[in-house]
Amino acid sequence: MHLLYATRDGQSRRIAERLARGLAAQGVTAEPADLALAQPSLSSFDPAEPIIVVAAVRYGKHLAEAEQFLTHYKVLTVPPPLVLLSVNLTARKPGKDTAEGNVYLRKAIKRHGLKPALAAAIAGRLDYARYSWLDRQMIRFIMVLTGGPTDPHTNIEYTDWDKLDALAARIAQRVGATA
Ligand SMILES: Cc1cc2nc3c(=O)[nH]c(=O)nc-3n(C[C@H](O)[C@H](O)[C@H](O)COP(=O)(O)O)c2cc1C
Repeated sequence: MHLLYATRDGQSRRIAERLARGLAAQGVTAEPADLALAQPSLSSFDPAEPIIVVAAVRYGKHLAEAEQFLTHYKVLTVPPPLVLLSVNLTARKPGKDTAEGNVYLRKAIKRHGLKPALAAAIAGRLDYARYSWLDRQMIRFIMVLTGGPTDPHTNIEYTDWDKLDALAARIAQRVGATA
C-alpha cells in the first residue's frame, strides 16, 4: 500500500508512521513517503494498490504538495482506491472528524471530484511556540472563534492515537485485501 504524507510541523508524518505500524500489525506493508520530497510517478502505480494520503491543513487548505498529488490522481483513467486523511485542528471537535463534518475534507473531495474508499479528519497538534509571530496571532484568533486555547504557551497534541490504530485496522479491512 502507498502511504504518502504532507507536513510542515511533523504531526502528519507522525500520524503516517503510526498508521504504518498499525497496518503492519494487520499484515499490510506501507512505507511513509513525504510528498514534499518527491511527487510519485502515478502512472507507474498498480491500479489495484491502494493509496493513503495524510495531508495537513494550513489556512483552510491542504498543503500544496498534497493538492498537487490529488490533482494528478484525479486524471488517472483507472485510479487506485484512495484513503484520504486530513490533519487539522477543527477535527478535535466531535462530529468534525468525518468527510461530511469536516469542512476541509468535504471541500477537497468536492473540488477534486474524488470518490475515496475511506476519508477521515484527524486532530493535529497545537504548539504556539513553533509558529511565527504572525501565524501565532492568526491561530489564536481562530481559537477565539472556535473556543480553543489562546494561551501562547499552549502545546497540546489532540491526535487520538488509539483511534488512529482503529483506523489502521479499518483501512486494512476495507482496502488492504488488495494491497
Ligand atoms: C500556519 C498554520 C495554519 C493553520 N491553519 C489551520 C486551519 O485553517 N484549520 C485548522 O483546523 N487547523 C489549522 N492549523 C492547524 C494544523 O492543521 C495542525 O497544527 C496540524 O497538526 C499541522 O500538521 P503538521 O504538523 O503535519 O504540519 C494551522 C496550523 C498552522 C501552523
